[in-house]
Amino acid sequence: MTIDFPPGFVWGTSTASHQTEGGNWNNDWWEFEHRADSGCREPSGDAVDHFHRYPDDIRMLRDLGFRAYRFSIEWSRIEPEDNEWSRAALDHYRRMLACCHEFDVTPVVTFHHFTTPRWLAARGGWTDPAIVDRFARFCERSVNAFGDLIGMGCTINEPNVVSVLGYISSDFPPGARDFEGYAKVNENMIAAHRKSYDVIKAGPGDFPLGLTLSMSDWWAPEGAEDRLERTRFGHEGQFCAAAKGDDYFGVQAYSRTRLDEQGMPTGPEPGVELLDMGYEYWPQGLEVSIRYAAEKTGIPLYVTENGIGTTDDAQRIRYTTEALEGVGRCLADGLDVRGYFHWSLMDNFEWNQGYVPQFGLVAVDRETQARTAKPSAYWLGEIARQNKLTQP
Ligand code: BGC
Repeated sequence: MTIDFPPGFVWGTSTASHQTEGGNWNNDWWEFEHRADSGCREPSGDAVDHFHRYPDDIRMLRDLGFRAYRFSIEWSRIEPEDNEWSRAALDHYRRMLACCHEFDVTPVVTFHHFTTPRWLAARGGWTDPAIVDRFARFCERSVNAFGDLIGMGCTINEPNVVSVLGYISSDFPPGARDFEGYAKVNENMIAAHRKSYDVIKAGPGDFPLGLTLSMSDWWAPEGAEDRLERTRFGHEGQFCAAAKGDDYFGVQAYSRTRLDEQGMPTGPEPGVELLDMGYEYWPQGLEVSIRYAAEKTGIPLYVTENGIGTTDDAQRIRYTTEALEGVGRCLADGLDVRGYFHWSLMDNFEWNQGYVPQFGLVAVDRETQARTAKPSAYWLGEIARQNKLTQP
């Protein structure tokens, strides 16, 4: 069986600043990693030193066959204190964008990927409505500095993860259990998306802009359909609604979420393969998420993240094949899916789980920082080159 992807379908890989750059001591995550009671496995430290090694990394992904690269800019570097701007940091990201162009790679810039400067987190972070204007101001500075080089943009990565993991499960900063805080974060993230969208669009450059969302295949026992729909609206539907009219919507899916009769998470189903992340091996989640996003947003879609944390690279190939088959079925049904970005280019800092889950197509030696492409990297790079998936 062969899946031919439409001409112009974009193949890329994704990363984020805090997970790869190293030394991001001035954001809320660094502080959280070092808090004794945060439950974090280890601090991010030098990460994979992408801050200095980006030229080699971008060349590597191009040589593998990918022609797009999604990465995030680090707010705490660009605005280290309230309204103090680092020209050096802005220049750094301008050089990074120029490097992508040099290698003929389309740069996809995420303006916020989970991390918030410390000075702003200390003032309530995403619970304080004042962050909406501050985020827009940061986006304006950034786009004025390098918007002309951006190929595609994402305002905020997974607003729903920042709110749920930060304010309900307490796995992410600030490690709270605060339902009111959770609701405020959602509200401010949506407002920040809308405001920054207009600000970025008004700046230099002319590129597709949207937001990216963490999505899942939701399951609940018979009779609990209403609860399931309500929960899904809270996690996904409200953000899909907020994205209406955007240039595109970014689908990010990894697994499945099972709920009980009360709508509370019940964990994996016995017998289903379990991954290092603690959730189920469930590549079907991507197709379900694409279909939901298509129905709720009505705008073009990109898969901006999909992947698997595993030390078994053959399992990564199996997972990605099954996920791409789902994308193929969506395309065959006429859904407007325009690209696929694999999470992640390299093994990197997996937030509270540290360096244990290995999501990379490329391995990184934690002592020497040496990069070694895994078989999956060559395999997916070849699919990207051919724009075609051929089953063995
Ligand atoms: C996030 C990434 C993360 C990945 C794998 C996504 O939710 O955007 O930062 O590393 O999932 O867990």
